[in-house]
Amino acid sequence: MCGIVGYVGHNQAYPYLINGLKKLEYRGYDSAGIALHKGSELQVVKKSGKVAALENAFGTLDTHSTLGIGHTRWATHGIPSDYNAHPHYSNSGNLALVHNGIIENYASIKEELLHKGYTFQSETDSEVLLNFIEDIHINNECTLEEAIRVALKRVTGAYVILILSKDHPDTLFAARKGSPLVIGIGNGEHFLGSDASPMLEYTKEVVYINDYELAIINPDQLILKNLGNEILTPYVQKLDIELAAIEKGGYEHFMIKEIHEQPQAIFDSLRGRLDAENLSITLSGLEKIKDKLTAARRIIIVACGTSWHAGLLAEYWIEELCRVNVEVEYASEFRYRNPIISSDDVIIAISQSGETADTLVALENAKTQGATIFGIVNVVGSSIARISDAGIYTHAGPEIGVASTKAFSAQLTVLLLFAIKLAEYKETVSEDLRKELIKELSIIPEKVKHILDSSIDNIKEIAVKYQHATDFLFLGRGYNFPIALEGALKLKEISYIHAEGYPAAEMKHGPIALVDETLPVVFVATKDRVHEKIVSNMQEIKARSGKLISVVTEDDQLAIDLSDEHIKIPVSHEMIAPILAVIPLQLLSYYVGIERQIDVDRPRNLAKSVTVE
Ligand code: F6R
Repeated sequence: MCGIVGYVGHNQAYPYLINGLKKLEYRGYDSAGIALHKGSELQVVKKSGKVAALENAFGTLDTHSTLGIGHTRWATHGIPSDYNAHPHYSNSGNLALVHNGIIENYASIKEELLHKGYTFQSETDSEVLLNFIEDIHINNECTLEEAIRVALKRVTGAYVILILSKDHPDTLFAARKGSPLVIGIGNGEHFLGSDASPMLEYTKEVVYINDYELAIINPDQLILKNLGNEILTPYVQKLDIELAAIEKGGYEHFMIKEIHEQPQAIFDSLRGRLDAENLSITLSGLEKIKDKLTAARRIIIVACGTSWHAGLLAEYWIEELCRVNVEVEYASEFRYRNPIISSDDVIIAISQSGETADTLVALENAKTQGATIFGIVNVVGSSIARISDAGIYTHAGPEIGVASTKAFSAQLTVLLLFAIKLAEYKETVSEDLRKELIKELSIIPEKVKHILDSSIDNIKEIAVKYQHATDFLFLGRGYNFPIALEGALKLKEISYIHAEGYPAAEMKHGPIALVDETLPVVFVATKDRVHEKIVSNMQEIKARSGKLISVVTEDDQLAIDLSDEHIKIPVSHEMIAPILAVIPLQLLSYYVGIERQIDVDRPRNLAKSVTVE
């Protein structure tokens, strides 16, 4: 949420900054800006709209500079506009800042500064923070570095800040709490970013900055300190992401590329963990807290959005296979409702980005109450990965499209592996079922590929036919209920059509009133233990003239005959089928979004990594 970049070195800063902002645009795209150090002045250019608008605004301007910062914004304080865009100048014009996060106590600080005669050009909390730093710098007659430290000790909330100062022509100041910051180490140059994607073509050596750390960076040196002014040793890590992974590779959008990458994402998430020959699963992450997990009184799953839907399906799987209580919590609710947590609880955190603020803080709270944290995270080295006591990476590769697709199927894959392995430890699963599930999981990538190869033309036709609907209902039961929720979320996000996901039987308790001949109702109706029941629900919708679009098992003639439209998926075990059933729903959303001419990779108001609460 908000992307930041910075460069300090001997080469030109602008190309890295502008291209870096394009790579980080998935984090927010209300407005964008760049500040360059020009010796005698700081040059700030900023513009509401996408990064392309900023690039136009630079036009033929002289961009020569070897030191600069940039920002792509997802508005929190103040509407998207040129004046609220970052970077901000301080009152003296000596400092420029970009900020990702929220300063919660900005109002009281602003009040103080207004009394001292400061003026503000924007409505942002970020400009308040910058002037606060400037005020301390001037009035306490301390160095800028010291002023940043003093200011950061006073503010509450979350931040990554990058600061340029007219008086420091080859130094960048950076600090973080709660929002991500990566520093790439080059040869006589440093690259900064909210994640590593902008720097991949320049360096593979990175340092992930931790909370309450301040970095003073010049071309040849990175000095890392804590807010107590103690020098820390930067921990340099090697990135193993390739550049191709964050490019479109011939696809029109990242979203469709990532939908097509799912066989690989699932395969990579199984690789080295599932042995189809010996029908065994090895999860070293789980091994690490095996005793804790097998003895756990309760497993609490904490996540947001699509990751929460993965958690909901995991509840069904884990309870069925492991016979342990599972609760699934929205991180934003969990963190504020004083939950009862004990050291017998294991918390599973699910997050693609590993940076979602609500999930992160929920985990921090649970940890202080003695719970063990198990992270299921996609981004290596992210904050949630680091706070976890143990975990399993999802190996979906970088997900750039704002709507999550391959991260979701990789999460489901890992969660099912987890459930099977825990059940094996707890001896709560029969040998036959354990083997059957492992066999089926091993061929999931092929089945996903089959759906992708065989269903796209059909789904495109359905998308064309129903693109003008104003509402959609998504219904499922049992293992398919979370998939119905996910289908509705995807459609909302990238088509702007109102959609609701519901348990199919619950529909009779209210939503059925919506049904008429204009309402498309998507049934996730694969063959499972409640299949007859959901077929009855389909009949109920048909009797009221609703339009039935069904995701069905390929040999299910009954459901096919009942439906106005159907999308077939291969026969599979009822626990595995939901991993397949979500694929047509992702495709349906994508093609409806395309028909409605939505920018599917960057739908309005959304951001990929929600680092504010
Ligand atoms: C929806 C979507 C979001 C995320 C949610 C959590 O397509 O992507 O709902 O799932 O913001 O993000 P992570 O998984 O990064 O914690």
